[in-house]
Amino acid sequence: MNEIINHINSNFDFYIEELKDFLRIQSISTLPEHKNDMQTAAEFVAKKIKDAGISKVEIYQTEGHPVVYAEWLGAPGKPTVLIYGHYDVQPADPIELWNTDPFEPLIKDNKIFARGATDDKGQMYVHIKSVESFFKVYGNLPVNVKFLIEGEEEIGSKHLYKFLDENKKLLKCDAVLISDTSLWDEGIPTITYGLRGICYMEVEISGPNRDLHSGTYGGAVPNPINILAEVISKLKDKNGKITIPGFYDDVLKITKQEKENLKKLKYTEKEFGESIGIKKSVGEKGYSLLERIWNRPTLDCNGIIGGFTGIGAKTIIPSKASAKISMRLVPNQSPKRIEKLFHNHVKKITPNYVNVKISGIHGGNPFLANLDDPIIKVAAKSMEKAFGKPTVFMREGGTIPIVVEFSKKLKATPILMGLGLDTENLHSPNEHFNLNHFKLGIISSAYFLNDLGTQ
Ligand code: BES
Ligand code: MN
Ligand code: MN
Repeated sequence: MNEIINHINSNFDFYIEELKDFLRIQSISTLPEHKNDMQTAAEFVAKKIKDAGISKVEIYQTEGHPVVYAEWLGAPGKPTVLIYGHYDVQPADPIELWNTDPFEPLIKDNKIFARGATDDKGQMYVHIKSVESFFKVYGNLPVNVKFLIEGEEEIGSKHLYKFLDENKKLLKCDAVLISDTSLWDEGIPTITYGLRGICYMEVEISGPNRDLHSGTYGGAVPNPINILAEVISKLKDKNGKITIPGFYDDVLKITKQEKENLKKLKYTEKEFGESIGIKKSVGEKGYSLLERIWNRPTLDCNGIIGGFTGIGAKTIIPSKASAKISMRLVPNQSPKRIEKLFHNHVKKITPNYVNVKISGIHGGNPFLANLDDPIIKVAAKSMEKAFGKPTVFMREGGTIPIVVEFSKKLKATPILMGLGLDTENLHSPNEHFNLNHFKLGIISSAYFLNDLGTQ
């Protein structure tokens, strides 16, 4: 492994330049005007995997954005690792809050700033470089390796489910290596063993057949914004519990053992509040801060649209109002079931003198790993060797919808070897990625491939 680490160290500056080129591509999956950039990003990834030493690389077109697949099966009898990641990014707005151009990467204090730096281009790129280092130093890999890099993670991985169903043989593997989560703290190697799922809904309430003069009609007309606000406020009670009947039915209880583990992870209310500029955390009564973020489901309004939002005043009663509402789910809640419960409940609590349209936008299942899996132990050890510290195990509140499908459909072990930090502004202005973690990630990935091959 010394040669590999030397190779990584001496080529690290080139890796950064390549990552910059990757970050310049505006691969925003949700915006139709970036469709060509999605293809460009897929081609960039395919080329870099080829340059790393894998000749069998393919770009599969889907009904959405392309999927990059690659394989090297030159280690018969050895395990197969599927490397998953996403080349799509979130929109850059609000653009005026960025200190630099989101698509012109800039390095400051050993951090690279750009949209997608930590989520997920920088983290994903780590594995292309670790694979490359083996080919450059030894001409082969210690295990069989496949790549599956998609362009729709940020919009719910809609077409990847079908791709997975139709290509189970092609994707067959023992472990799925993923860097798309966070480290517990700077320089602390971390394996994530749980992710929340999601159920994302939109509710539209319509009242009068047009916007009305609020003086002429006000006092006698059901106002869709007021009604929407009432409906939203009824979805939680004063103890922070979600009021949808049956919502908690399938929620797994937190075990004693896990409670103890969580207590060991020191994280204070103060640290949390200061890191995001809030005075006090809120949420479900009776649960600790980490439990509320990792182990318990949530319901949040993500956006609200209606009426006049321009500068100044316009006196109207709007004809419509809508809200985007997402629920983070935990094992064993099912997004399909929660969607139905939400639908029925919102329908029931909305007054019948307005119209309500409730639609599902996307959903993803939660994930919980089996910590006794020997492959997870190898992964934890490999991070430990790279970072020089013991590995922490944690859960996360975010969602990567396809992860649980890897374990269900491919019977493979997902390894969440996250390298980001929650404070690196993913989905926010001034997103960045710590370059020290970039390097330690490449080394961790290399140890993992090596140790899995020599087990
Ligand atoms: N990489 C994140 C998920 C994540 C972030 C996990 C931090 C753990 C820690 C991923 O790109 C993401 O943003 N997922 C979306 C999924 C959704 C669009 C279905 C999410 O969680 O909102
Ligand atoms: Mn991501
Ligand atoms: Mn994301």
